[in-house]
Amino acid sequence: MKEKKEKNIEDLPGVGGTTAERLREAGYSDLMAIAVASPAELAEIEGISEGTAVKIISGARREADVGGFETGDMVMERRKKVGKLTSGSSVFNELIGGGFETQSITELYGEFGSGKTQIAHQLAVSVQLPEEKGGLNGEAIIIDTENTFRPERIVQMAKALDMDPDETLKKIRVARAYNSHHQTLLVEKASEVVKENPVKLLIVDSLTAHFRAEYIGRGALANRQQKLNKHMHDLLRFGYLNNAVVAVTNQVQANPALMFGDPTRPIGGHIVGHTATFRLYLRKSKAGKRIARLIDSPYLPEGEAVILLCEDGVRDA
Ligand code: GTP
Ligand code: MG
Repeated sequence: MKEKKEKNIEDLPGVGGTTAERLREAGYSDLMAIAVASPAELAEIEGISEGTAVKIISGARREADVGGFETGDMVMERRKKVGKLTSGSSVFNELIGGGFETQSITELYGEFGSGKTQIAHQLAVSVQLPEEKGGLNGEAIIIDTENTFRPERIVQMAKALDMDPDETLKKIRVARAYNSHHQTLLVEKASEVVKENPVKLLIVDSLTAHFRAEYIGRGALANRQQKLNKHMHDLLRFGYLNNAVVAVTNQVQANPALMFGDPTRPIGGHIVGHTATFRLYLRKSKAGKRIARLIDSPYLPEGEAVILLCEDGVRDA
């Protein structure tokens, strides 16, 4: 993707200072976000009629590079650059076609203690390995929303791979996200960091916790989904532009009182599901074992892998 000279949303027809401010407040902070919005969504913002929304959106589409068509050979060329990052377990890697893919989002979902955060730590270490060892020779950024990043775990995992623990820690940048808005802003920050550093992994752990806590009740659902949708697209864009792995975690809504429906549905539903290229459902098994299940992947068969969470990190069971 090539970026045109960036214009501001104030440059769009029908957008004055006040409207620009309202757009930003609603999460439409750049042209791309507006270009892919629907008129009905924009018209929910105070002071924007449906007619104005159409005008603003078509203006944004002219300015933003919304993709257009690529020929098959261009897609092939981009696909050739896709890197694979080892999970630490060979059966796990096999399940997902060789490892966590760059230019995609992988969603790890499961109940508490299912291993989402452990896998995130492992990836932040593995990404620093050279390619012949399953790494991407890169650095990691972790957006930590639950304050569960533990440098001590990184040290253990680095030692297990004969890596220098201090050097390994220096190549992991962690930012604590205090609320969902802050969380989304941190993706922009990450895009700045990547200009100066070879970041090949972006983790959001947890993707949904803040959103779930802040947008409560039916009335807030549409708004939450819209914000989450934009966040996911920003993440995907980061993955594309930097040929990086993006991994996000999501807790399942385990609700024993639920009589109908799936009690293990991940939060964010279809918005998260459609944007994530790989969805992995993790569940607990005996001792340190965990079962990873690949859910609706575009080109890989569904299947399961049994992994082990141990002091060294993620390994074959
Ligand atoms: P939530 O964030 O609460 O939804 O859970 P999660 O899916 O992120 O779970 P997490 O990755 O934190 O998994 C915690 C589990 O990992 C523990 O119950 C342990 O089984 C395992 N674990 C964590 N640290 C260690 C360790 O140092 N050694 C070993 N052997 N296991 C560990
Ligand atoms: Mg966790």
